Amino acid sequence: MNLDFSQIVPSIPFMIKGIWVTLQIVSVSLIIGFILGTILSIFKISKFTVLRLFADAYTSLFRGTPLILQLFLFYYATPQLTGIMITAYAASVLTFGLNSAAYVSEIIRAGIQAVDKGQQEAAEALGVPYRQILLNIILPQAIKNILPALMNEFITLTKESAIVATIGVLDVMRRAQIVTAEKYIAFEPLMFAALMYYILVMGLTLLGRILERRLRRSD
Ligand code: ARG
Repeated sequence: MNLDFSQIVPSIPFMIKGIWVTLQIVSVSLIIGFILGTILSIFKISKFTVLRLFADAYTSLFRGTPLILQLFLFYYATPQLTGIMITAYAASVLTFGLNSAAYVSEIIRAGIQAVDKGQQEAAEALGVPYRQILLNIILPQAIKNILPALMNEFITLTKESAIVATIGVLDVMRRAQIVTAEKYIAFEPLMFAALMYYILVMGLTLLGRILERRLRRSD
């Protein structure tokens, strides 16, 4: 066994830059996924069959095929279909955002349906419009209850983001591979990357805890 962590010291600044790339991809996809997921979840409980069918088909497709395949489709097949070349970064946030929406919509739907029906009935009896019932009464309660599930989704997204390395995005994972190729050592750069992901996930977990505590305070 010949471990030598000092060999990767000169490459540490290069690898640390990957954190920003990873963070950027994750945060943009997270926002896209959350907004789109919320809209889809509302479609799923809508009284219009077309909307329900659309949202169900959406989740079925994005959940039924591998994420890496979707990434390759967006990156390699979009130029073939549209003649427009998209950057690896754009393909990544688009794929992750759309994919995450499929999962988020299910989480939020479950949250909405878990809110006591009496709340909606009481609001209706008071003449509150449906839009307001949904946005101001049901959704805030739903989000509070599903926060742990949402945090799980965000953690999954953070770790799955490592597959963008396969289309050349210079994220944490890709940078570790580059250092491996330059120095002919694999363990040290990979361990360093693992540490970076672990810190990111721990940060997210902590953020989730703080948010959860703050939301519970209003109970
Ligand atoms: N490895 C899984 C796949 O390829 C990950 C799916 C992404 N999961 C998520 N919760 N966004 O399908």
